[in-house]
Amino acid sequence: MIFDYSKTSKSENYKLMSSSIIPRPIAWIVTTNDKGVVNVAPFSYFTALSSNPATLIVSIGHKKNADPKDTLKNIRENKKCTVCIAQEEFLDKLHLSSKELKESESEAEIFDIPLKRVFEEFPPMIEDVAVAFFCKFYKEIELKDSKTIPLIVEIKKQFVNDKFIDKDGKIDFNPIARVGRSYKRLGSEMEPPKI
Ligand SMILES: Cc1cc2nc3c(=O)[nH]c(=O)nc-3n(C[C@H](O)[C@H](O)[C@H](O)COP(=O)(O)O)c2cc1C
Repeated sequence: MIFDYSKTSKSENYKLMSSSIIPRPIAWIVTTNDKGVVNVAPFSYFTALSSNPATLIVSIGHKKNADPKDTLKNIRENKKCTVCIAQEEFLDKLHLSSKELKESESEAEIFDIPLKRVFEEFPPMIEDVAVAFFCKFYKEIELKDSKTIPLIVEIKKQFVNDKFIDKDGKIDFNPIARVGRSYKRLGSEMEPPKI
């Protein structure tokens, strides 16, 4: 079956892409606004861009009233974000934190998401997640007239939860992955064939 993207609707494109490009990692992003309100929200149009320079890319859209989502507004204003990668036990809180709230309300308070301040100069991380990247805004990408804005952020520091470092020093945890509009666990490991 062939889908011609000049004929598909925006929602069909989303369905096709989000069920085909899988699994998507989820950036659980913490930002703060000028009044000190801590914002927490998940984003799965997200991936690593390069290890050198250490950069991530995340695409963030607008609210129903057409204002930029709080995460986008906060990164534009404060140029910082903390990108957490959560393990399975956080699924409920991660999903709840996608609820659209007023700018003055904090998902961390409303959904009882525990925070931990690690660096004064970066937003707090979510306590006990597997991994957190402390990032600085690098660049916004112009994408035709898209309402979803791709942002590149540069990793300045990384936290890895000691619980998930195995005896060989490798990071090993069960992340929450996005498939379509749902979630999946990663499957079992496959040995790469010899080349
Ligand atoms: C797992 C998951 C992934 C999401 N990925 C994205 C995304 O990549 N881009 C986006 O704009 N919204 C995404 N959303 C929706 C946002 O989380 C939601 O709009 C949230 O309210 C934004 O919060 P904010 O206004 O506090 O930034 C996702 C939601 C969920 C549950």
